[in-house]
Amino acid sequence: RTEFDGVIAIDGPSGSGKSSVSRRLATELGAACLDTGAMYRAATLAVLRSAVSLTDTATIIKVVEDTGFEFGTTPEDRYTRIEGENVDDAIRGPEVTAHVSAVSGIPEVRRHLIAAQRAIIADAAHGIVVEGRDIGEVVAPDADLKIYLTADPAERAKRRSGQNGADLAATAADIHRRDTADAKTTRPHDAAPGAVVVDTTHLDLDQVVTALHELLAHKTTGT
Ligand code: DC
Repeated sequence: RTEFDGVIAIDGPSGSGKSSVSRRLATELGAACLDTGAMYRAATLAVLRSAVSLTDTATIIKVVEDTGFEFGTTPEDRYTRIEGENVDDAIRGPEVTAHVSAVSGIPEVRRHLIAAQRAIIADAAHGIVVEGRDIGEVVAPDADLKIYLTADPAERAKRRSGQNGADLAATAADIHRRDTADAKTTRPHDAAPGAVVVDTTHLDLDQVVTALHELLAHKTTGT
């Protein structure tokens, strides 16, 4: 087991395998892991539940700022809570998925959540793997290792529909719609400066995690 107490940034588009890879890598490093997508999803769920109009940006910001969120960062026990209630299923449902790009596109919402992300990263005593879209570029530009995880669109759709049982063509269309919408705020199609691109199209989870361990070993020994 590698001794690790730094920050690993894993960015990439929907269905590139970020979540499984991050959780497994964090477990093997004895590090924490943070799913920033879950944070934007939780903010979106809070907004939808508050029944505020999606055009009322000022009230949306207030709802996000006033809601009590908790994000568990232990890889074996990640959780997302709103006012103490576990919302891990609800935040991955179709309603949140349909609206998350609109909420995450509001600059003040991002500012608020990025501050929360940086506080969680600063608190992680044994290192942390952080996954999202803008981690290597905006949230943690000084990360010890930056990875851009990607895969062919067809493969990403196959993985997502395998996870949630949804129709393949509908999933492909939804991923494309979300990547396009997200590209207005973050750069889901581009690697951050200094990031290593890992194409997972033909790799399974074990192979990706092994590749990341090797990259980390090279980084930390400077070879
Ligand atoms: O990774 P995910 O699909 O759970 O992310 C949900 C949405 O949150 C995604 O459509 C874009 C947004 N997001 C973001 O804008 N910035 C991040 N760092 C992570 C996610």
